[in-house]
Parts: sequence; structure tokens; C-alpha cells
Amino acid sequence: MTGLTQMEWSAAVAAILQLQPPAASSIAGEIDQLYYLLTGITLFFTVLIFSIIFYFMVKYRRRSKDEKPPDVHASLALELAWTIIPSLICVVVFVWSSTLYVRAYHPPANSTEIFVIGKQWMWHLQHPEGPREINELHVPVGVPIRLTMTSQDVIHGFYVPSFRVKKDVLPGRYTSMWFEATQIGTYHLFCTEFCGTNHTEMIGWVYVMAPSDYAAWLAGGEKSEPMAQQGERIFSHYTCGYCHVADGTGRGPSLVGIFGKPEKLASGESKIVDEDLIRQALMEPNSVQVAGYAPIMPTFKGQFTEEQILQLIAYVKSLGVQERANVK
Ligand code: CUA
Repeated sequence: MTGLTQMEWSAAVAAILQLQPPAASSIAGEIDQLYYLLTGITLFFTVLIFSIIFYFMVKYRRRSKDEKPPDVHASLALELAWTIIPSLICVVVFVWSSTLYVRAYHPPANSTEIFVIGKQWMWHLQHPEGPREINELHVPVGVPIRLTMTSQDVIHGFYVPSFRVKKDVLPGRYTSMWFEATQIGTYHLFCTEFCGTNHTEMIGWVYVMAPSDYAAWLAGGEKSEPMAQQGERIFSHYTCGYCHVADGTGRGPSLVGIFGKPEKLASGESKIVDEDLIRQALMEPNSVQVAGYAPIMPTFKGQFTEEQILQLIAYVKSLGVQERANVK
């Protein structure tokens, strides 16, 4: 290669062939390389196999009516070659794509979290600092962004082609994905599940900004309360703190520092407290009864919007951060 890195090389190929949208995230370049490898392998073997078929068709055609083909024996070397070579190619593709998949779908610990709610037919987004957006997402360049996503109704799919990431957004639970944008610009956002009449209109834009512009964007606009604070208001409105006393002396477990840690349940199993577990505790509290506490928590099914549940989750998370800050 003439001084170009592999990334630049694949970007150049993409630009010339106009095969795909710009590669604008930290993993996009490598995903494209894998895609080119798979396409290349497929093309190579298709051409090879069909050329041999046509060559043999002509070479070994029947030349007279009573011609008898000679007795041919299998070649061990040939059999081994066409077993071992494709197997090795498969192993290379498997190892590369699975490590890339693991990287693409496990957000780094230092990611900034943004919450996404899909509903017929729009995208609702909220930043932890408070600002809400519809069908638009503003993010800083060069910062890993983790999206925690849920749906208010049917299955949607969050897809930003330029970032080469896509994930289904499901009702009743949380999925997450992450990306780190590498180029300032505006990129298309699509819904990829057929979610009803106006599915095709469930599109939007991701605005990747310089960190200083992003900070200005966050600070500007109408003043909004941080999500954790909104969650705290819901928490006190429903008097959750009456049982969930911070020092652990209440009738329910203290929620301080609980997020991301294992919790022993009355059923004997241990579960990590994550977004889904908090949601389950609100909807079907008896199914995740914490060991050592009486099953007295009422269900809040149907009482909160998806947005409020996310705000409550943000509040519980913030309690963990406070505790960790105190420990240091
Ligand atoms: Cu939402 Cu298609």
C-alpha cells in the first residue's frame, strides 16, 4: 500500500464507488473492511467455481453416443485442500467479526448516557442534563455515547448508517448501543422495523458537534431540570422514600449505591441491579423481592410514562454516583 492506512484506503474505495454513507464513527472503518473482505471472498469463489464449471462442461463434454467416461478416483490432496482452506477462511471471518461485534455492542465505561424512547412515529431523546429532543440528537465529537433505549408501543429499530450501528428498540425492556462519532457533521437516523403506517417518516438527524459547541447547545435553549432531579421529584411525589430510606433502616432496601451491583433476592438468586431490574421492580415488585424485606411494595404498572421510568432510573443511578464519590 502506498502510504495510505487501511482506514484511509477503505474510505477512498467507498468514496469512489459511492457504496455507502460516510464512515463517521470509531468502528465504521473496520466494519467496512470486514464487509469488503466478505464481499471479496464471495466474489472470488463465485467467479472461481463458475469458471471451473464452464471449463469442465466444455472439456469433458460427451463427444459420441457410445462414449464411456473413464473410471476416476477421488484425490485425497484435493479433498483436504477444499476442506481445510475454506475452514481457515471461516475461522478468520468468525474471529474478526465476533471480536468486532463485542466491541461494537459493549459501551466503554466512560460513555455519556443518552435516553431514547421510540413511539409511533417519532424518536424522543433526553440528555441526563435535561434537554429533550424529538427526531434530533445532538452529540459531541470524539466522546463515546451510550444510548439506553425503550419503546412506548411496538418494536422500532435505531439505525445511524454513517456510524454503522443499529439495534432494535423494544417495548417493556431496555436495549443499549453506543458509538463514538469521529467527524463533525449531520447524519441520517432511521427506524429499521416496520412499525406501522408512518414507519417511513420515523427518521431524524444526528448532529455531531465540536465539544465546545455541544456545551453551548446544552446550556442554551430553555432551561430544563437534569433527569436525575426529575426522577427525584417523582420519587418524593410517590413517597418512595418512606420505605426506601437512604440509611437502610426503612421497610424497603436503601437505593443508595445499589445500581450496577448484585442484589440478593428472596428467591435465593442474585441479580445485578440494572435498568431492566428497576423497571421490573416498579411493574411487578413481587417478582424481584429483595431478600430480608417483606413483599409490601405496590405495583406501579400503568402509572408512569416511559419517560418517567427513565427519570427514576437516572435518579437511582445518581444515588450510586454520589455514594462512590463519598467513598473516594
Ligand atoms: Cu418505528 Cu419503524
